[in-house]
Amino acid sequence: MPSHFERGSLLFSIILLLLVSSRLPPSQALPLNKKGLNSAVFLSPKFVQGPGSVGDKFYYDVDFPRGHIFLKDFNAEVVDDEGNSVPLHETYLHHWLLVRYFERKYADSSDIIMVPNSGVCGHILGQYFGLGSETRRTMSYIPDPYGIEIGNPDEIPDGYQEKWLLNVHAIDTRGVEDRLGCTECRCDLYNVTKDKSGKPLRPGYVGGLHCCYDDTHCRVKSHFNGIKRSLYLRYTVKWVDWENAIVPVKIYILDVTDTRGRADNSTSIGARVGCQVEYDVEACDAVSPHNGCTDSKRISVFMANGGDVIYGAAHQHSGGIGAALYGQDGRLICESIPIYGEGKEAGNEAGYIVGMSSCYPHPGTVKISNGETLYLESNYSSTQGHTGVMGLFYLLIAEPPLKHSRPTHDARLV
Ligand SMILES: *[C@@H]1O[C@H](CO)[C@@H](O)[C@H](O)[C@H]1NC(C)=O
Ligand SMILES: *[C@@H]1O[C@H](CO)[C@@H](O)[C@H](O)[C@H]1NC(C)=O
Ligand SMILES: *[C@@H]1O[C@H](CO)[C@@H](O)[C@H](O)[C@H]1NC(C)=O
Repeated sequence: MPSHFERGSLLFSIILLLLVSSRLPPSQALPLNKKGLNSAVFLSPKFVQGPGSVGDKFYYDVDFPRGHIFLKDFNAEVVDDEGNSVPLHETYLHHWLLVRYFERKYADSSDIIMVPNSGVCGHILGQYFGLGSETRRTMSYIPDPYGIEIGNPDEIPDGYQEKWLLNVHAIDTRGVEDRLGCTECRCDLYNVTKDKSGKPLRPGYVGGLHCCYDDTHCRVKSHFNGIKRSLYLRYTVKWVDWENAIVPVKIYILDVTDTRGRADNSTSIGARVGCQVEYDVEACDAVSPHNGCTDSKRISVFMANGGDVIYGAAHQHSGGIGAALYGQDGRLICESIPIYGEGKEAGNEAGYIVGMSSCYPHPGTVKISNGETLYLESNYSSTQGHTGVMGLFYLLIAEPPLKHSRPTHDARLV
């Protein structure tokens, strides 16, 4: 692979996140409940995993609807060879990400331009959609009259075509010694001292994505016998054809580890990369529990452009107890709370976050101003420590129409 290709992969490999899906019964044809709503189900390339193994795969040019369209929904889950949903306690889905890019036509070595979302972390967390263990029960549809516009020929540079990259990071935890430790990518369990590129881990780094990259192994109980098996990410895309009446929304992903504050208005990507994506939660001192053993992290995020909030949902890992986004004046923009499973079956696995609640404010009722500073808060229970957790917030924002099309006074249209 050309090196810029690989560099893209590295950037995206430290991402995660976000969004999606009302749970659909597997393998069921989707009813076209609305005129013009198209739906298609695809399978990623096959990946093979045995007990303890990690796959962190980057599939370029995956199957995807083509043409000038508006995306309305994207759902994904891990299935086996027979199309059965695979539960998280067998294959932990750390994340999947869907990334948009342009590729030069007819070039033999790929010439690629990544097309990140509108979010403040630049190419890090630049995906259009992405989620982790919560994928089966997190709503991600985009309500009418909104949609995510793709395939606009005016946006695609001459000689290029639009394509999609799917990153799937899965950890096979059948028979492992410490399930939570493996899913939190604790370096000791992976016997890893160097990151994917061969660089020694930074001192004090005890867990996270740098210890569970592709082809690493989490420690399995001796004598455990499990077979390798073939898995796929099955994803369902819904879309409508382009038409004037559909209002485009922009995708933002905010990250609670983004400590730059962004009190500036700089727009260059280099200036914006403060996003670390993951962080650790220290166990509270059992003797003098601080803050009721809640680890609360809060940052400010400068939003150069605002608009109407159409959708919001957070991404957290096990231990998460909720995240919220507030406006500059302290008003609540969206709160997103994890749903924990209570059983064994796929979609309801005990101990795992199987869904995140989402916000669908009535359009026009929740606004972000241009140049507003938002506050993002992510809470975890710290009754035990955690490594490699996340506090991301996914937002869809519709920018206001151009000034000249606005009413001249502040009359509200009903
Ligand atoms: C851990 O890694 C070291 C050095 O890379 C190797 O010598 C050792 O055998 C590994 N231990 C296990 C349990 O795999
Ligand atoms: C944005 O930054 C530029 C250059 O640093 C500065 O001149 C301008 O006043 C800033 N605008 C706002 C709205 O802060
Ligand atoms: C997070 O925890 C803090 C401190 O306990 C609390 O004030 C805040 O409301 C919590 N926020 C969320 C989103 O749960």
